[in-house]
Amino acid sequence: MLSTTIKSAGARQAVLRARIAPLAAARAVSIWSKVPQGPPVSSPIGARTRSLPIAVLTRSIAGCITEAFKADSNPKKINLGALLSLSPTLPYHVPSSPHPGGPKNAQLTPSSPGVGAYRDDAGKPYVLPSVREAERRVIDDKMNKEYAGITGVPEFPQAAAKLAYGNDSPALGRIAATQTISGTGALRLGAEFLQRWHAGEKKIRIPTPSWANHKAIFQDARLEVEQYRYYNKDTIGLDFDGMVQDLKSAPEGSVFLFHACAHNPTGVDPTPEQWKEISQICLQKKHLPFFDMAYQGFASGDSDRDAFAVRQFIRDGHKILLSQSFAKNMGLYGERAGAFSIVGEDAEEVKRIDSQLKIIIRPMYSNPPIHGARIAATILNDPKLYTQWQAEVKGMADRIITMRKLLREKLEGLGSKHDWSHITSQIGMFAYTGLKPDEVEKVTKDYSVYFTKDGRISVSGITSDNVGHLAEAIYKVKG
Ligand SMILES: Cc1ncc(COP(=O)(O)O)c(C=O)c1O
Repeated sequence: MLSTTIKSAGARQAVLRARIAPLAAARAVSIWSKVPQGPPVSSPIGARTRSLPIAVLTRSIAGCITEAFKADSNPKKINLGALLSLSPTLPYHVPSSPHPGGPKNAQLTPSSPGVGAYRDDAGKPYVLPSVREAERRVIDDKMNKEYAGITGVPEFPQAAAKLAYGNDSPALGRIAATQTISGTGALRLGAEFLQRWHAGEKKIRIPTPSWANHKAIFQDARLEVEQYRYYNKDTIGLDFDGMVQDLKSAPEGSVFLFHACAHNPTGVDPTPEQWKEISQICLQKKHLPFFDMAYQGFASGDSDRDAFAVRQFIRDGHKILLSQSFAKNMGLYGERAGAFSIVGEDAEEVKRIDSQLKIIIRPMYSNPPIHGARIAATILNDPKLYTQWQAEVKGMADRIITMRKLLREKLEGLGSKHDWSHITSQIGMFAYTGLKPDEVEKVTKDYSVYFTKDGRISVSGITSDNVGHLAEAIYKVKG
């Protein structure tokens, strides 16, 4: 009896196996088998300049620099590369480790943070005391963890808008504002809004060069991306004439992306007078300005001064789009606190815009994270804490400005005959040194100073301790 049962069970299994086999064979080909291998986000250290897509370059080059830096045994080594800020138009030098002990073929970890974030004078990450205090209050309040609304923590978006547009802005009352997933999320939301509702070309014009992620963000929203002239590598300054020509020759009603302050990656901004001219041309041509403000306060140390371009455009009657990030000026990088706003004609139009922003956000990420926005809102809405924060932002900006001055002074002190005025006239976290790719390579090889081949350094990586070595390295190579 028992053996019959076993036999029949075995037979049943055999039948089952026979039935399942063709299905299993079919399943052996995975449903994702047609997903192509994307370009690598990490590359061997020995890799040199290569033409990878920008999104990949952004991560892999920063990773390469950081890994080569880590492996370098020179005690005087300096890492002035940075993450997520590469220019799409320039070649990069991925340094091989020049010093004994450096790995030959090591694999890189993807997206090492490099020094794309602010560092204090000891080269350490910095959490602002005002942020610590706001966070303490948020925690002490024992708030619940329930969802925010679609447009975020209620106290945050309008407070963010006031910071950008000013407390007495003529636009107040007709700004559709929402919390976003930091500056990147704000740009992505704006891109999607343009894709759906901009009546003209589905195209945006960004500066050459621009923050590398801009192109990817807009293209992912199915906008065509064109570039306008911005940086003149011969003068290491603004190509104002080229920019004006491109503004004038673009079809009426074109969308232009402007970096509100501290242009990344060049550190080159238009002067207030140039901004006024740009605004007038945009008015004449009915262009739609989209401002990316990722560094308000962080550039000059004065939030009002850094908002000059945005406020000038508003005074001139533009209805702008604006993305804001609190990553740099509050040091809330990983908290992802940002805002997006559109200036409308009147309250009724703003209501309509607002409804469409919600329609985009809801299926995309439903609602944004609360913690960082609560911290930011606490700072922005408490006059005393706000004043403290402003002083701390100024402290960060001043350190950057001081390092620029020091580097220039040291270069001049060493007897360099080159004009280094661009080091101090540029603004923000990044500086274009004007070093050529072969010079960058030499600085890296001979002096263990790491930065991208376009000659751009992250000033936040410079400290009182290492500026002397940096100046000497540049002087010895450049003269
Ligand atoms: C020009 C520019 N825009 C936007 C951002 C967005 O940053 P986040 O998404 O971290 O706020 C950055 C960050 O480096 C930037 O440099």
